[in-house]
Amino acid sequence: MQEELQTPNPEPKTQIKACLFDLDGVLVDTAVYHYQAWKRLANTIGFDFTEAQNEQLKGVSRVESLNKILAWGGVEKTDAEKEELATLKNSWYVEMITKMTPAEVLPGTVDFLTEIHQAGYKLALGSASKNSGIILEKTNLAHFFDEIVDGNMVTKSKPDPEVFLKGAELLGFKPNECVVFEDAVAGVEAAKRGDMRAIGIGEKSILTDADVVVSGLDKLTVKDLENL
Ligand code: BG6
Ligand code: MG
Repeated sequence: MQEELQTPNPEPKTQIKACLFDLDGVLVDTAVYHYQAWKRLANTIGFDFTEAQNEQLKGVSRVESLNKILAWGGVEKTDAEKEELATLKNSWYVEMITKMTPAEVLPGTVDFLTEIHQAGYKLALGSASKNSGIILEKTNLAHFFDEIVDGNMVTKSKPDPEVFLKGAELLGFKPNECVVFEDAVAGVEAAKRGDMRAIGIGEKSILTDADVVVSGLDKLTVKDLENL
């Protein structure tokens, strides 16, 4: 493991039995496509937002991302206009993800998923995206997952823990037997609110609530799960 962030956990620790993975920014580099598409939308309306602001969009649903962006631009839209804008952003985004190939899977992902699957851990996807199906298909990752929970199956956006609690339930494990892999502040908060351990994928200075932060799945091995 590369770097560790120790957060004291008052709860008694149980052994990890299941791994719940966020998709965008953890398994595949789609976070950059979301950013590009939202930026293009904001620019079309007549304003811009920063990369730091973009951090607040990670893990957040399409509708809530749009609401945040419009608030940053000081722009008000009707519900019908918002629906049109979200659809436009998604059409640009889908244009990019349909061209994805397995080469865009982030470093170490296939090795790590293979290793933990072989070690007997159960795997679920826990993504806010309604496009997870096409991404998993294009990148050839779908077969790793015992269960898939995505934006089509939840009503509450991260940081609400719904997506991860549903994943744990479908896999048949208690929340404290699960670990979540997340690149988003909202996703780490969702894991913690769901009483799960969280491995942050990214920077310690951003993912301050994660139990451990590494730069990518290439920095992890199955041993790291035993030590959590
Ligand atoms: C999350 C992304 O995985 O999915 C967010 O981190 C995105 O940036 C959300 O807004 C919803 O995605 P989609 O594909 O349904 O628009
Ligand atoms: Mg993500």
